Amino acid sequence: MLIKLLLWCLFLTVATGMSAQVVTVSVATDEEAPTISRHIYGHFAEHLGRCIYGGFYVGEDSDIPNDDGVRLDVVAALRELQIPNLRWPGGCFADTYHWKDGIGPKEDRPSILNVWWGNVKEDNSFGTHDFLNMCELLDTEPYLSANVGSGTPQELADWIKYTTHPAGTSPMPDLRAENGRAEPWDVKFWGIGNEAWGCGGNMRPEYYADVYRRFATFTTDWGNSGELVRIASGASSVDYNWTEVLMKNIPKNLIEAIALHHYSVLDWNAKGPATGFTDDQYFGTLREALKMEELIQKHVAIMDQYDPEQRVDLFVDEWGGWYDVEPGTNGGFLYQQNTIRDAMLAGVTLNIFNNHADRVKMANIAQAVNVLQAVILTDEEKLLLTPTYHVFRMYTLHHDAQLLPVSFESPRYVHGGESLPAISISASRDSAGAVHFSLVNIDSERSHELALDVAALGLTTVNGEILTGDALDAHNTFGEPARVVPIDFDGAVIQDGQLRLTIPPHALIVLEGSRGD
Ligand code: AHR
Repeated sequence: MLIKLLLWCLFLTVATGMSAQVVTVSVATDEEAPTISRHIYGHFAEHLGRCIYGGFYVGEDSDIPNDDGVRLDVVAALRELQIPNLRWPGGCFADTYHWKDGIGPKEDRPSILNVWWGNVKEDNSFGTHDFLNMCELLDTEPYLSANVGSGTPQELADWIKYTTHPAGTSPMPDLRAENGRAEPWDVKFWGIGNEAWGCGGNMRPEYYADVYRRFATFTTDWGNSGELVRIASGASSVDYNWTEVLMKNIPKNLIEAIALHHYSVLDWNAKGPATGFTDDQYFGTLREALKMEELIQKHVAIMDQYDPEQRVDLFVDEWGGWYDVEPGTNGGFLYQQNTIRDAMLAGVTLNIFNNHADRVKMANIAQAVNVLQAVILTDEEKLLLTPTYHVFRMYTLHHDAQLLPVSFESPRYVHGGESLPAISISASRDSAGAVHFSLVNIDSERSHELALDVAALGLTTVNGEILTGDALDAHNTFGEPARVVPIDFDGAVIQDGQLRLTIPPHALIVLEGSRGD
């Protein structure tokens, strides 16, 4: 009889796609745990395709409501995300960009060819003032990526003086004042080149380390603008040698952070479509995304060897999914749709960053608008928020909160003879004492029952939101912009010190737990 009952339970479990196992999650309340820097939730805007032109900037004469040419609908949407920083102007474009082309009267600015991205005309109508003023509108910190590949240390030093020094101290700040901005901006983050191993100059790490030392010497605030953060162009994914050579050869007084780029790409020659993908492609993209865990562990282990005091931070300043461009669009514009798969990708990646908050102090998804894993897509005056946008909005609860380390044995998401951990979790406690959990189940078919041990946290109430879709490639379109949106989730309960819930397949849940007192 008992065997019959067990078999029946097993049948039900399989038939409904529900895992038989309850996943028990311990949540530590470690006073020493790091703060999750809000800068992990950073964004990236390159002069690429319709990211800047058409995306952020439509020009002062546009019928689309704007402030000095910057779209107000995009500003409002990004302010909801409380974006902490915005990286600009590239990417590969940055190492072809001469900032002096983008200042002064717009009609006098030279046009150039954007050689990396479609060979289209770049008229420099969006330049330094436009970007830094836009950051003020967005209430976000600028991160300027300097031209090392085809630029000079002089050009970089001039850019720093132009943007951050008080007028009256040297010719550059005076030129800024002449161009209409008396007060300096606050620019802390400076990238010393981008992908120096590739589009930024095809350098060997030994050579770039020397070039970096030279440029970083002149990347200084000269006592005028507070501390600058100098960011070395970092490794591509598994290029551990790059990190090793840089950490070995760059003196620690010249570097504050080293970057890392990792895109979740199935195959650079066969990326697959952004929608209408196969189950194999779904699984493969998530496998590539989850590699971030190992990448961070291994790059950080190398950093620790040369920097045991952990003075140098890791900035993952490009990450995200990269698929074939949408049919009929310019191949150089990298315009792709964004689905539940991308929400899963963003959810697990941000959880990994949170859980490595001791060393990962910044990250920038590529890219904010109309390019790669964008949070916003636009079409002329229309705008839509992607599933990835909603993940970033739901995760704002983790900004600058203290990490609560979690530990658990994840059930496996099995596909075609391979498997991945199905469940990803991070947790934090904010300054008001509220506790937040972000939980992701990437399994395409099976639900999982979770039991989080929250006894030590004294939580009595819980509420939350869930983001999922009716298909793995469910997405929003300009015709149907709210097909994938978060809804309230009231399926979590607290009982006997445990927070219990069932997370459906391909779903992401964010919970807020509070104490009764
Ligand atoms: O984000 C698109 C491109 O990807 C960037 O310009 C470059 O840095 C990377 O290879």
